Amino acid sequence: MTQPSPALVEAMRTVQSPLVILGAGGKMGPTLAVLARRAADAAGHALDVVAVSRFSDPTARGWLESRGVRTISADLFDRAAVARLPESANVLYLVGLKFGTQQTPSLTWAANTLIPTYVMERYRGARVVSLSSGNVYPLVSIHSSGSVESDPLTPLGEYANSCVGRERIFEYFAQRDGTPVALIRLSYAVDLHYGVLVDIARKVFQRQTVDVTMGHLPYIWQGEANDRILRALALAAVPASPLNLTGDQSLEVRDVALRFGALMGCPVQISGMEADTAYLSDISRLRETLGAPKLSLDTLIRWTAHWVMQGGSLLDKPTHFEVRNGRY
Ligand SMILES: NC(=O)c1ccc[n+]([C@@H]2O[C@H](COP(=O)([O-])OP(=O)(O)OC[C@H]3O[C@@H](n4cnc5c(N)ncnc54)[C@H](OP(=O)(O)O)[C@@H]3O)[C@@H](O)[C@H]2O)c1
Repeated sequence: MTQPSPALVEAMRTVQSPLVILGAGGKMGPTLAVLARRAADAAGHALDVVAVSRFSDPTARGWLESRGVRTISADLFDRAAVARLPESANVLYLVGLKFGTQQTPSLTWAANTLIPTYVMERYRGARVVSLSSGNVYPLVSIHSSGSVESDPLTPLGEYANSCVGRERIFEYFAQRDGTPVALIRLSYAVDLHYGVLVDIARKVFQRQTVDVTMGHLPYIWQGEANDRILRALALAAVPASPLNLTGDQSLEVRDVALRFGALMGCPVQISGMEADTAYLSDISRLRETLGAPKLSLDTLIRWTAHWVMQGGSLLDKPTHFEVRNGRY
């Protein structure tokens, strides 16, 4: 997960110190920051990697510090705290709010649009890679090759629309101040601790029913996603430049559940029928720029089945991949 590729080691040589990672205390930030640390070390490049978050989960902070990543605890809703962050020419933006949108949509909108405003005011002129989501597109036919970056952003539901808002804020400041930005439309990072594969594996292992209505899911191993996110600093541009980031092909929920069942020796209970639409992204641009991910679905299924069966630690943050009405 945190072993750098030769391409990343090379790319890190161009990154001026410090590299600031905002929203680093969540599911992706810790491994992303440590991957950057290891890549810089492998390049013999003196790079200070600074992880910023509120660190609601203090274990993430300790994990980062013990691996050579400097941490700063800050609430990025606080403009004064944003102003105190270290100067940087390279910023990765991971802050986001998704779950709970149905209950408090105003908080989601504030987190996903106000914080980008404060950050873009603070880091005027820096190269910024901002995480977005494949959910900015509407559901598309499973027979299509998926949404392309130039497609209209007309998703369903407040969370996805707040992600469009987040992109538009970055885009606005990129244009206004000439701040280069890459917008990474990520679809479902998978890790052994969380993600769509863990969600399906757990259901099978616990003899719960797997709903296959959302029958097709894009996915990417988090290690490969983090590699592309760091290398995307080179793609930051004015106007802001979007990039779909996901695997070469989507997974079929029914097929994956059956494969987990076979590996785990569990009967599989399926409900629903596959809908003919899903959240799918075309990765032609990714293939041309940073390269398509390589890790096979077979490998990920084997790793995940083994991890879940042996009681490996899990984050217990379900993806709710079944949601089709945009309500999170
Ligand atoms: N993981 C995926 O599969 C996936 C898929 C599509 C898109 N994305 C996007 O990629 C980004 C990173 O993904 P992730 O899974 O790591 O997200 P995540 O687990 O939600 O992490 C984001 C982190 O941002 C921090 N944050 C939120 N509000 C903050 C505030 N006011 N001040 C400081 N920090 C704040 C939180 O950590 P603290 O509580 O420590 O502050 C939170 O854990 C997200 O923005 C998401 O939109 C991820």
